[in-house]
Amino acid sequence: MSTQHTFDYLVLGSGIAGLSFALKVAEKGRVGIITKKNRAESNTNYAQGGIAAVTSKEDSFEMHVRDTLEAGAGLCKEKVVRTIVEEGPARIEELIRLGMKFSERESADAGGPKELDLGREGGHSKRRILHAKDVTGREIERALLAAIAAQPNIQIFENHIAIDLLTTQKLGLAGSDRCLGVYALDNKSAEVETFSAPVTLLATGGCGKVYLYTTNPDIATGDGVAMAYRAGAAVANMEFIQFHPTCLYHPKAKSFLISEAVRGEGGVLKTVAGAEFMDKYHPLKSLAPRDIVARAIDSEMKRSGADCVLLDITHKPAPFLIERFPNIYHTCLGYGIDMTKEAIPVVPAAHYQCGGVMTNVDGETEIDGLYAVGEVACTGLHGANRLASNSLLEALVCAHRASQKVLAKTAKAHPAKIPPWQSGNAHNADELVVVSHNWDEIRRLMWDYVGIVRTNKRLQRARSRIANLQEEIQEYYWDFIVTSDLLELRNIATVAEMIIASALQRPESRGLNYNLDYPNADPAWAQRDTVVKKGS
Ligand code: FAD
Ligand code: SIN
Repeated sequence: MSTQHTFDYLVLGSGIAGLSFALKVAEKGRVGIITKKNRAESNTNYAQGGIAAVTSKEDSFEMHVRDTLEAGAGLCKEKVVRTIVEEGPARIEELIRLGMKFSERESADAGGPKELDLGREGGHSKRRILHAKDVTGREIERALLAAIAAQPNIQIFENHIAIDLLTTQKLGLAGSDRCLGVYALDNKSAEVETFSAPVTLLATGGCGKVYLYTTNPDIATGDGVAMAYRAGAAVANMEFIQFHPTCLYHPKAKSFLISEAVRGEGGVLKTVAGAEFMDKYHPLKSLAPRDIVARAIDSEMKRSGADCVLLDITHKPAPFLIERFPNIYHTCLGYGIDMTKEAIPVVPAAHYQCGGVMTNVDGETEIDGLYAVGEVACTGLHGANRLASNSLLEALVCAHRASQKVLAKTAKAHPAKIPPWQSGNAHNADELVVVSHNWDEIRRLMWDYVGIVRTNKRLQRARSRIANLQEEIQEYYWDFIVTSDLLELRNIATVAEMIIASALQRPESRGLNYNLDYPNADPAWAQRDTVVKKGS
């Protein structure tokens, strides 16, 4: 008999979205948080640059809205952008009251109280990024987890990986479709447990690991998007995968980001021969929107045959760099690179999923009882290219709005008894090698054929390879005992399929979807989302 857990609210994921929501709904009911590894491990934990929000007199909501719309290349939903931008400052104040410590600077008025230090990043016309030096995400997780620890209504299940959502339709139960909870694998006991609740929040983050090179940690395998898709929810705009221009290039470094804030403080991109090149691509040069900078680097690397470009900030005083970027300085130094004296070798890498499970600004999906917030969701804020540091903002605002939505309703548990998980029982060491081989094959294939610059032929080739791999994966899935690796493999294959299908649906280049067969944006596709949905 498998273990059954029942809660009032079920939260999948312990990044900024999941933890913020859990804290708010815990006022009214019992909350279970399921998380794949330890509680802090998340994309949130690695966020460097900070949170974009209007907090200075020189800034305005209008300017933040305009910058977001411009970066989004005509695809953002303006109403959603306004809501998120305008509600940002209140959520930031809440986070500070909870214990979050942002970096501060001396007041502009002599003797006045300290002010929040504001950073700058690509595409922002003003300094508006609140940050905790260059470890903003770590400080967010610390503050939220400390508040969660003091909340008796919340129970966290670490090392539990959600496998699939339970819906009335999937279980063949009567009535309109609704989400009843999730099956999850306890990685320590290897048992599949059942978690049920009238409200389930997907806060499982993004899918960087679908690509060979990424800034994301290992948890980012697109599980939430894949689970929602299998449950029948609509998934939008998956072709818009953001490649961060500056990931550290070093044979021993795995996924280490060099924050855009380094360019915000004056860092300049150069070729390995030491020539500046961004003036050929955009008037904002090294601080142009990310899609433009990543494509420019890709093009310079292809032109010269070099393995990387350089990010040079050696003209700034060393004490300033060490104080402002302690994590980047010490990590680079660990690899033998002193950023105060030499330029940092960098390459673009997959960073952020702009599309996701289709929701409104309150996190509601098409399936009753299922909400999605954070990187897993597509609200319409980011459009075809996310403005730097808008994702932590979106997660905070939408987690709050989703919590208010569910708190205003009385959701009752479904009376149905949920059947225990059924699994294959074979365990074959040879097949485990195949699982790891398929992991590598998908990630390399996505990097080579579905990367920064795409063509129809490459997309079609990728589609047929993924279809073959999907067949194999389905076989193991039903025959063998499930493991985290197999579950994640199934999810990255599904997400890869969605990215390719969405890119093939869009006959234009817009924002992050650059296709040489259609090098220009088509006005008929402005404001049109690509949607993938099971069975349609
Ligand atoms: P995450 O923080 O990724 O949390 C997802 C959670 O879900 C994790 O706890 C994970 O373990 C869990 N999970 C996933 N799958 C499962 C499953 N199947 N079962 C159970 N649990 C699961 N954005 C900014 O706005 N500003 C920045 O400065 C910034 N810097 C960044 C730097 C880096 C290196 C990276 C990788 C991203 C950065 N981003 C930044 C993006 C931002 O960090 C993320 O978009 C944001 O943190 C996502 O929050 P989230 O709560 O949606 O997901
Ligand atoms: C960074 O610090 O460059 C990351 C910011 C972001 O992804 O929003």
